[in-house]
Amino acid sequence: MLKEGLEKQEILKILEKKLEKDFSYNSGSILGSMCTEPLDFGVEVYMKYISKNLGDPGLFLGTTALEEELVSEIGELFNGKNIIGSITTGGSEANLIAMRIAKILKKNVTKPEVVVSRSAHISFDKAADLLGIKLRKANLKDNFELDLAHFKSLINSNTCGVVGVAGTTSLGLIDPIEEIGRFVEDKDIFFHVDAAFGGFVLPFLKKLNYKIPQWDFSVKAVDSITADPHKMGLGVIPSGGFFLRDSSILQKTGFEIPYLAGGNFKHLHIVGTRPGGTVVSFWAIMKYLGINGFKRIVKKCMDNTVYLADQINEIKGIRLTTNPIINVVGITTENGESVCKIDDELRKRNYMLGKFEEFNLIRVVIMPHVQKTHLQTFVEDLSKIVKKLKI
Ligand SMILES: Cc1ncc(COP(=O)(O)O)c(C=O)c1O
Repeated sequence: MLKEGLEKQEILKILEKKLEKDFSYNSGSILGSMCTEPLDFGVEVYMKYISKNLGDPGLFLGTTALEEELVSEIGELFNGKNIIGSITTGGSEANLIAMRIAKILKKNVTKPEVVVSRSAHISFDKAADLLGIKLRKANLKDNFELDLAHFKSLINSNTCGVVGVAGTTSLGLIDPIEEIGRFVEDKDIFFHVDAAFGGFVLPFLKKLNYKIPQWDFSVKAVDSITADPHKMGLGVIPSGGFFLRDSSILQKTGFEIPYLAGGNFKHLHIVGTRPGGTVVSFWAIMKYLGINGFKRIVKKCMDNTVYLADQINEIKGIRLTTNPIINVVGITTENGESVCKIDDELRKRNYMLGKFEEFNLIRVVIMPHVQKTHLQTFVEDLSKIVKKLKI
């Protein structure tokens, strides 16, 4: 550490140089991220309220009330009533909270298990590891949809929770939430839906008259949902979201910290000190965009998704993995050859996609920062690469 501090201008210059290596959202390179440039107004509000600390809610009663209001409003968007929960550090924390609740609610089970699909996010592996839960993974069918019969067959007397994904990380697919709900509804099993990505896409697609199956609190058996503002909500990082139907679960499973300056509040989070600025910011984003604002953003993403999907269909040697349901496009080879070489070549040209070797696919997430011009250049280069590699 320096003995004497530097001038602000000098520090800013050094930072600019050091951060040159970062990719920027508007460059056309970031094609495989589920995060995006936060909304300008959200950033403005965040900066203003950056010092709010919801780790000590008693000191920030206004921010705490705002979070309750925000959670309840999002809960209504997900067809729930009096939904409680909180803004988390991300989808991983929200999923961890859900898995912990599932385990605690089934105290008599000594070897707890949770059933997920093979395409569930890695955060469930992390949560299972941390909580000593056995994760049972159901197979996918050839079309990458969940094999429901296999999923059901993995449920047994040790099962404390099941997870359905609404917007998978790899392909944006939606697990059959209604069918899973029907199967577990008379069993003592916690049902969590991971809509970390889909949460701020699916309600608006439905309002745009896209055919979207039921995935949210409208399914009676759904106990909780993950949905992240910092993905398709255009919220600032870090802001995930955990939403819970039954408020008595907070009393039964919440943590208590006796020493807080603001007094004791029961909470479900894993972290202690946590940003209130992200909460205030997302509250403001929801008010600013309204349903129509989100609809416009999602529609643009879907139009670009259809554009890319059509272009991929035209390139000989590669094909769509599945027809996109939401703004995620999976690409694979026609002859089954590995996608790794394509991914390597794309990276050399600064195209950063997601690569899922297990499913032999690369995927583009058509976030709000992805412009049609980015996709046009990408398609041209992808076409050249496929030709060069003789796939
Ligand atoms: C479906 C799903 N769930 C959970 C997560 C984890 O979210 P985070 O990275 O915010 O922890 C992701 C991340 O992409 C995801 O796609």
